[in-house]
Amino acid sequence: MRSELCDLFGIDVPIFAFTHCRDVVVEVSKAGGFGVLGAVGFTPRQLEIELQWIDERIGDRPYGVDTIIPNKYEGEGETDAAKLETALRAAVPQAHYDFSDRVLAEHGVPEFPEEEKGRELLGWTHATALPQVEIALAHEKVQLIANALGTPPPDVIQSVHACGRKVAALCGNAHHALRHKEAGVDIIIAQGHEGGGHTGEIASMVLWPEVVDAVAPTPVLAAGGVGSGRQIAAAMALGAAGTWSGTRWLTVKEAAGALAQKESYLAATSRDTVRTRSISGKPARILRNDWTEAWDRPDAPDPLPMPLQGLVSIDMMRRTMRYPDQAQAVAFNPAGQVIGMLNQVQSVRAVMSDLIDDFHEAVERLQESAAQPG
Ligand SMILES: Cc1cc2nc3c(=O)[nH]c(=O)nc-3n(C[C@H](O)[C@H](O)[C@H](O)COP(=O)(O)O)c2cc1C
Repeated sequence: MRSELCDLFGIDVPIFAFTHCRDVVVEVSKAGGFGVLGAVGFTPRQLEIELQWIDERIGDRPYGVDTIIPNKYEGEGETDAAKLETALRAAVPQAHYDFSDRVLAEHGVPEFPEEEKGRELLGWTHATALPQVEIALAHEKVQLIANALGTPPPDVIQSVHACGRKVAALCGNAHHALRHKEAGVDIIIAQGHEGGGHTGEIASMVLWPEVVDAVAPTPVLAAGGVGSGRQIAAAMALGAAGTWSGTRWLTVKEAAGALAQKESYLAATSRDTVRTRSISGKPARILRNDWTEAWDRPDAPDPLPMPLQGLVSIDMMRRTMRYPDQAQAVAFNPAGQVIGMLNQVQSVRAVMSDLIDDFHEAVERLQESAAQPG
């Protein structure tokens, strides 16, 4: 299982793993794939700590960092992070905070102690993500900066290229893929509708070949619904240079997260996810629960545009992470439809080995089929 991306990054297999967990980044890269750390939830100081931790453990393997700088959001153009944050805070109607508080109270989710209360704006804007990019580039083993929800701004692409690293960007349709390519993005990540997190309208089976054809010869990573080697084989048969998966890594042994959250993931079927604007303001796929349903109630306010809705939901995310046992009915558990295939906890190494074996079995089946007369 090789592609041009193996030579580009010096990796064994073109399996890219998106995760918010540093242990998973290290284990995937050490197993021959490419781990990518999602930076959106980290302050610049926390991100520096995470990257140092990874550097110390990953040996000479490369890894990546993922940011979220959307093409469109409230307050875009404001480059002063502090001013932006003040303006955004002022723009959130009290009714939204009140509704969120009410839903959490209805479910008995404990409040944070007074001194720890707060609703920080972390990534989500050019101004707040730029320091993350600068920190990432100061770490030599970070060989890839990926961006979600838009074409990375020209200053980001230039600074990544200036130090000899590569830029990737996620997209949900061929039009956006072309925009990325024209801006100088090196690798396009085509994420289908079924994927976890922010996701568009077009399913992977249709999207992947569409994007491959639109941006050729730029390499495309297939994302959305990849949980097995068979699916990697399908992605590569459709022209992808490898795969990019997120949900697959939620149930591994090394994934951080409370037992209660892992149990929610292990119990979920492929029918238990929903695309909701109640988290960030843009459609994102998470496990359906009382929080997602509440925002569809007649008494619910309309979710706000990005990143304002994030200032509302951050309290839910922090409280449900702190009190996972009391909060699963309203917890933030992002996942794609492939979660239904993930029913046991395995180590990253075991998952990588299964993915590779399953890929080869699928390829052999196809070769046998192709060798049949007729
Ligand atoms: C828990 C979770 C969090 C995610 N957060 C981000 C994120 O912060 N940035 C990003 O670019 N993509 C994010 N994604 C999307 C992944 O990068 C990836 O495209 C997606 O998981 C692929 O589909 P799959 O979930 O079916 O593997 C997230 C996905 C999951 C499951």
